[in-house]
Amino acid sequence: MERSFRPRRLRHNPLIRDLVAETQLNLKGMIQPYFVTDGSGVREEIAGMPNIHRESVDRLVETIAADLNLGINKIMLFGVTERKDQLASTAWDEKNPVIRACKELKRRFAESLFISADVCLCAYTDTGHCGITIDGEIDNDKSVAILARMAVALAKAGCDCVGPSDMMDGRIAAIRLALEKEGYSNELILAYTAKYASTYYGPFREAAHSAPGKGDRKGYQMDFRNRREALKELELDEAEGADIVMVKPALAYLDIIADFAANTSLPIAAYNVSGEYTAVKLMAQAGMADEKTMTLENLTAITRAGASIILTYHLRDILKHGWHL
Ligand code: PBG
Ligand code: ZN
Repeated sequence: MERSFRPRRLRHNPLIRDLVAETQLNLKGMIQPYFVTDGSGVREEIAGMPNIHRESVDRLVETIAADLNLGINKIMLFGVTERKDQLASTAWDEKNPVIRACKELKRRFAESLFISADVCLCAYTDTGHCGITIDGEIDNDKSVAILARMAVALAKAGCDCVGPSDMMDGRIAAIRLALEKEGYSNELILAYTAKYASTYYGPFREAAHSAPGKGDRKGYQMDFRNRREALKELELDEAEGADIVMVKPALAYLDIIADFAANTSLPIAAYNVSGEYTAVKLMAQAGMADEKTMTLENLTAITRAGASIILTYHLRDILKHGWHL
């Protein structure tokens, strides 16, 4: 008798396909991003990002109360402000909308909400760059000192996890040292370890009013032609004290996520960025894709590559519509 090879047996019906599925989405490992701005009563939809808003603290608290009911209990906060200056002083002062939000959210929701916050200067510098500019150059070490100060201010305000997204050298070590010195030994550091200079950040920069006025971010974010370089960043962030390491963006960088999975025992996060979200929304609006299926395909691919934590703007839609069920 001749032996037949029939891989299709395992694809024969939905129950068999479920039985042999290798990858499951883990919604408990997903984080929803929010944009917090000055003032009160503010809630504006972000161009190109349906259902994602810029909100003042009072409105943010309402949105998060509703999201908690949906099952979202892990968040990432980004600041949006017009208070910008050379030294990014609003990054750490009491007027910072994210710092104000952390205080209010901790007071309202205590341990039922895991709060993480972006640590970067681009929303607060007059140049829109992620570090401060001295004599026409980004000053790495002065920027790192301000980032560490920002991280401590966030921890003090009740933020559980700081996410440095600036890509300055040595910032994880400086932030860890500053946190320890101030007694915040439980503060998590979610390091944007391999953050690439990417066109996929387009909608975010409009959302956060953080586009660089001149030039680009290629002097600090990684070059998308490089793969091995991500392992050097991984080695450094691990040694400097990161708790979680992140790859960003996610979908064009699945090889980097897989490399991290093979080379670290730390939890791996991936940032499913604004442009990746907008691409799905635009295809769905144009009738060229089913939004649910495309969203699940993307997030499953990121999980399959090796990320156990995903920052994604899709989380609220998934829970609202029960797409994961
Ligand atoms: C700022 C920052 C950016 C994102 C997160 N933090 C933009 C950038 O580097 O220009 C992008 C997030 C997204 O596109 O969803 N350092
Ligand atoms: Zn930045």
